[in-house]
Amino acid sequence: MPRPITATIDLDALRHNLAVVRRHAPRSRVLAVIKANAYGHGLLRAARALKDADGFGLVELEAAVRLREAGYSQRIVLLEGFFEPGDLPVMVEHGLAAVVHSPEQLEMLENFGAAGALDVLLKINTGMNRLGFAPQDAVDAFARLSRLAGVGPLSLMTHFASADEARGIAWQVDSFEGVVRGSVRARCIANSAAILRYPETHFEWVRPGIMLYGCSPFSDQVGAELGLKPAMTLESRLIAVQRLRRGDTVGYGGVFTAQRDMRIGIVACGYADGYPRHAPNGTPVCVEGSATGMIGRVSMDMLCVDLEPVPEARVGSPVVLWGAANPIENVATAAGTVGYELMCALAPRVRIVERGGCMIARRPEL
Ligand SMILES: Cc1ncc(COP(=O)(O)O)c(C=O)c1O
Repeated sequence: MPRPITATIDLDALRHNLAVVRRHAPRSRVLAVIKANAYGHGLLRAARALKDADGFGLVELEAAVRLREAGYSQRIVLLEGFFEPGDLPVMVEHGLAAVVHSPEQLEMLENFGAAGALDVLLKINTGMNRLGFAPQDAVDAFARLSRLAGVGPLSLMTHFASADEARGIAWQVDSFEGVVRGSVRARCIANSAAILRYPETHFEWVRPGIMLYGCSPFSDQVGAELGLKPAMTLESRLIAVQRLRRGDTVGYGGVFTAQRDMRIGIVACGYADGYPRHAPNGTPVCVEGSATGMIGRVSMDMLCVDLEPVPEARVGSPVVLWGAANPIENVATAAGTVGYELMCALAPRVRIVERGGCMIARRPEL
C-alpha cells in the first residue's frame, strides 16, 4: 500500500486553460511556458496536453532536447538562451530558438559563425532589470545580430515586472515601443497577467505560464474566478487522529497550543512532499470536503489539522492540500508565497496520478 499522498494532474484542465489563453488573445500565437518541469506538472505530460500550443518556452537545454526528441515540431524557445558556446551546436542541431539577452551571448554568437539559421529573440530590458539589453543598447545589438549569417529572422521580447500589480505595464510598454518602433519583427511580451489584463500587449506571440496550470497570477483573485481550472490537486489522507486537552501543544516546537479540548488529524504530507514548512497555523486545508486549518509546525512527512469543523473526520478521511476544493492561491497567500512556488516544489516522491479525457493512468515521475 503506497503512502496515501498523490498529485493528480488533470490534462483536460491544461487543455481548457490553453483555450482560455486563446480566447483572451485570439490573434496571437501561444508560446506555452513549461520550464521547471512544467511548473511541477511534468514536462512531457504537460507538453502532451498542450500539444496544440504554437511553441514552448523553457530554460533547460536538456529538457528542450527531450521535447524535440519526443516529436514536438513547433517552436521551442530557451528563455535564458545559451550559457556557453558548446550549447550552440546542440541548439542548431535540434532547431531550438534562443533568447539573446547579454553582450556575452552576442559575442558567443559572433564567434560561432554561420552554422545554421538560429531562431533568435532579442530581449530588451524595459525595467525588470534582470535580463536584456538596455533600450539604448538594443538597437546596436539588433544591428549586430542582423549581420550574422547564422541568425534567422529576429523577434523582439521583454518581460513584465508588475503586470499583476497596480503599477501595471505602461511604463515598460512605452520603453519597448521606443526601441521597436517601425520594426516589422514579431513581438512577444505578454505573460499570464498581461494576457488577462492588457490586450494591447498581445502582439504576435503571448507567453503564458501560470494560467495554463489554472492558477491566478493576481493576489486578489483565484483561478476559478478567471475561468481557469486547477491542473494540479495535491491530496492525502488522515493517518491518525489525536484528542488534545486544553493547554496541550502540537508538533515540533509546540507552536500551537489547544485553547480547549479538541480533535486534530495527522495528514501524510510534509515539507519533503513539497508542502511549505513555513505555512502558519490556519493555512487552509480541506478535510472530507470541509474547510479547516493547519495547526502546528509542518514536519518532514506530516502536518496537523484542526478537526473541529469536521466532526465526521476519521483515519482515512481524504484531505485536499490544494486543488479545486482548496485553491492553491489561498494556501500560498497564507504561507507568504505564490502558487508558482508551491507547484514547482512538488517533491519527486509524491505519486502522480494523471487524469485527462477518458484516460486515467498511473505513471511514474516524468
Ligand atoms: C521570460 C518569461 N516569460 C513568461 C513567463 C510566464 O509567466 P507567468 O507564469 O506569470 O505567465 C515567465 C515566468 O516566469 C518568464 O520567466
